[in-house]
Amino acid sequence: MKKRLAVFASGSGTNFQAIADACADGRIPGAQVVLMVCDVPGAPVIKRALDAGIETMVFNPKAYAGGKKEYEKQIASRLDELGVDLVCLAGYMRIVGDTLLEAYGGRIINIHPSLLPSFRGAHAVEQAVEYGVKVYGITIHYVDAVLDGGKIIAQKAFEYDGNDPAEVHRIGQIIEHQLYIDTINKLLG
Ligand code: GAR
Repeated sequence: MKKRLAVFASGSGTNFQAIADACADGRIPGAQVVLMVCDVPGAPVIKRALDAGIETMVFNPKAYAGGKKEYEKQIASRLDELGVDLVCLAGYMRIVGDTLLEAYGGRIINIHPSLLPSFRGAHAVEQAVEYGVKVYGITIHYVDAVLDGGKIIAQKAFEYDGNDPAEVHRIGQIIEHQLYIDTINKLLG
């Protein structure tokens, strides 16, 4: 039986695409993506999921009077219904709250564009360039209550001696896609 993945994303969705393609063409032989969750109505990742025939759950956090607790409850019940084994955050630019952590703690992983614990948060690459670092990298880690703070599963470094954040993003994303595929395969055993 294939493991069932949910991918959460907020933007362009290149990591979502990489995971979905790898599941579909056998590079992740042990899993299938059963749900894409997006907190930004209109984000490009939604079309990617629809084109791939993957169920999408799109929500606007501002529309929930009960806030994070209420929308996370809704997400968690859909994850339960679909029998999701692993949640992959892929550019999901929102802090995961108690409701999801209580239900899926230990089964949520995130990809982050820095060598954690350096440069946590939303503008990791820009901060690293500003700092003048020469070795950049990508981290995949378990998600817990601390922002970008959970136990590290995989990291990959690369050298770059320049000051263009767009170039760091470009190099980093190529690494991200393969690292996410390799890490999912490793976790699924
Ligand atoms: C990725 O580069 C990911 O590392 C980053 O968002 C990007 C999403 O790209 N995540 C974070 O910064 C999380 N703090 P994508 O939508 O093309 O996959």
